[in-house]
Amino acid sequence: MADKKTIAVVGATGAQGGGLVRAILKDEAGLFKVRALTRDVASDKAKELAGLGAEVVAADLDAPESLKRAFAGAHGAFCVTFFWAHFSPEKELAEAGNMARAAQDAGLEHVIWSTLEDTRRWVALGDDRMPTLMGKYKVPHFDVKGEADQLFRDLGVPATFLLTSFYWDNFIYFGSGPKRGPDGRLAITLPMGDKKLPGIAAKDIGGCANGIFKRGGDYVGKTVGIAGEHLTGTEMAAALTRALGQEVRYNDVPPEVYRGFGFPGAEDLGNMFQFKRDFNEYFCGARNVDEARALNPSLQTLDQWLAENKARIPLD
Ligand SMILES: NC(=O)c1ccc[n+]([C@@H]2O[C@H](COP(=O)([O-])OP(=O)(O)OC[C@H]3O[C@@H](n4cnc5c(N)ncnc54)[C@H](OP(=O)(O)O)[C@@H]3O)[C@@H](O)[C@H]2O)c1
Repeated sequence: MADKKTIAVVGATGAQGGGLVRAILKDEAGLFKVRALTRDVASDKAKELAGLGAEVVAADLDAPESLKRAFAGAHGAFCVTFFWAHFSPEKELAEAGNMARAAQDAGLEHVIWSTLEDTRRWVALGDDRMPTLMGKYKVPHFDVKGEADQLFRDLGVPATFLLTSFYWDNFIYFGSGPKRGPDGRLAITLPMGDKKLPGIAAKDIGGCANGIFKRGGDYVGKTVGIAGEHLTGTEMAAALTRALGQEVRYNDVPPEVYRGFGFPGAEDLGNMFQFKRDFNEYFCGARNVDEARALNPSLQTLDQWLAENKARIPLD
């Protein structure tokens, strides 16, 4: 135990970080121990992590000193921001900067930054294929993460830039699951046309991150994209149909219709799906299923994820 290096995990009580905490703790190679960061060490989720064997420490991305303390003495850190908790790209950028500075301060040897593409590299702000949002973004929660890559680079933080994929868990938690239409039939609604959407079991992001930490230096400075499978809307609907035992259709809508759905973040997500659809070859090419499986041999397919999780998908 004494020889094990510490990985500090931001978002340890959440989807990505929680997957990493569990992947490290159950890894038989046992190279690392885990320091789970949370704003509330007394929460049930925090206590559960402590029960599994993690060191649980208090830290808040908005309190730089708490991050410095939490990163001190660690070998590596998994860094992620939480757009959907506040809908503020500026806050994400500030928090990414806080993590990059804390990583530099602690002299960490390996950081994984959970990032996404700055879509403005593909669709300039003046391009009217999709609306500009919040004054300076096309896909705010993507663009700002991609923009933040440079904060880690500028400080010389030895970072791996991890491009994640659509969580299949969104079928449970994020309102993306099958909904009944006026005809009573179930459908998933996505503006992806006939293009493939890279998807992943959220916990497998952490499994891949563990694989990256284990490989260490080979991955410093690299951008790595991961997915469990690339599937069309029709293929995802077929998988849901098989798992749920009732027909689920794919309802393809134009991105402009999706943007108009009116729920918080609908415009951001409408632009996001349009980016994934219109730059599909790039987007899928940047997320390699074989590499993800090499990093995380227990990587799930959608069928496998559904076999485990179908009972949790709300159907109404
Ligand atoms: N949904 C998708 O399909 C998808 C796909 C790719 C990427 N993403 C990205 O994933 C990110 C979110 O990651 P996630 O899904 O792992 O999050 P999550 O499951 O919502 O986890 C959030 C955790 O972060 C912690 N947290 C929130 N604010 C914090 C702060 N100020 N300081 C420290 N910890 C804080 C909370 O822990 P405590 O309450 O214990 O502090 C919470 O448990 C988003 O930025 C999103 O853009 C999502």
